[in-house]
Amino acid sequence: MSDPTLLAISGSLRKGSFNRKLLALAVEAFGPAEVLEADLDLPLYDGDLEDRVGLPEGVKALGEQLKQADAIVIASPEYNKGMSGVLKNATDWISRIPGGLLKGKPVAIIAASAGRTGGETARFMVMSNLLQLQARIVPGPAVLIAGAQDAFDGEGKLKDESSVKMLGQQMEALRAAMV
Ligand SMILES: Cc1cc2nc3c(=O)[nH]c(=O)nc-3n(C[C@H](O)[C@H](O)[C@H](O)COP(=O)(O)O)c2cc1C
Repeated sequence: MSDPTLLAISGSLRKGSFNRKLLALAVEAFGPAEVLEADLDLPLYDGDLEDRVGLPEGVKALGEQLKQADAIVIASPEYNKGMSGVLKNATDWISRIPGGLLKGKPVAIIAASAGRTGGETARFMVMSNLLQLQARIVPGPAVLIAGAQDAFDGEGKLKDESSVKMLGQQMEALRAAMV
């Protein structure tokens, strides 16, 4: 049997993003897979733009990746106790692609943030958005990396053993959730 396709989505566009680092570790923990990386650098959702040109190219490309994906992992930053605008904007565009591309897809949502709660509120917000799109959220364990600026070593690995273990369990659960 061929390897499954895993779509990795970072809710932060920042090159040095802690969520990108966490995502790379999640991909590693998932095991053998064809990995696709989403690019959420999309225009802001605007109904007039949609009426004029339809779906922007970047949204169509994301739609193709979603179609191909057997499983999805999203790493979400937390901004002002919510998900990033980048990620919210992407989910709004996704909801405009015909065919309900997230319906039934297994999704793991993980988070890294500078604060003490590790992006817990943002994770809930992403969860609630994706439930609206009928995604199949893998419940846990919830991987929430608090104090992200101190959480990774020089090689991008997580310093805290229990976080490494939980990430492994979460990605194992994502793999098991594939139909
Ligand atoms: C506008 C803004 C709001 C933020 N709000 C929060 C917050 O509510 N909770 C938190 O833990 N960190 C907050 N932070 C800090 C982020 O967790 C931190 O910048 C983190 O590195 C962002 O994720 P990234 O490294 O993947 O880009 C905020 C940062 C910015 C720029």
